Amino acid sequence: MTIQAPPPRSEPSHLACARSDVPADGAVLTCRVEGRAIAVARRSAGSDDIVAFDTRCPHMDGPLRLGRVVEGEVICPWHFFRFDVCTGHAVACDKSQMQLKIYPVKVLDNKVYVDIE
Ligand code: FES
Repeated sequence: MTIQAPPPRSEPSHLACARSDVPADGAVLTCRVEGRAIAVARRSAGSDDIVAFDTRCPHMDGPLRLGRVVEGEVICPWHFFRFDVCTGHAVACDKSQMQLKIYPVKVLDNKVYVDIE
């Protein structure tokens, strides 16, 4: 019996924006990728780590595009729940079963690519 390795996971391949378009102060940039709104931000203010996540909060569809990312957590402007921008987990709240959709990101030649599959 031959065990086959799983097929390689696809690389993020959809262009979202230029790295320089991503605000340095924790604000969230909304990008259109294949007709879908994707939130793109830096993992923390001034960081070079770029993250991408759903623009709608998993709590009550609050506009995360109007939120801020502080120290790796996006803060929803409606009820101030926080979500880890790497795992999507709700942070320090009683709604811990909520999960923010996170998109894999790759930065190449100062362009930000996301995987929306
Ligand atoms: S809608 Fe985002 S915390 Fe309630």
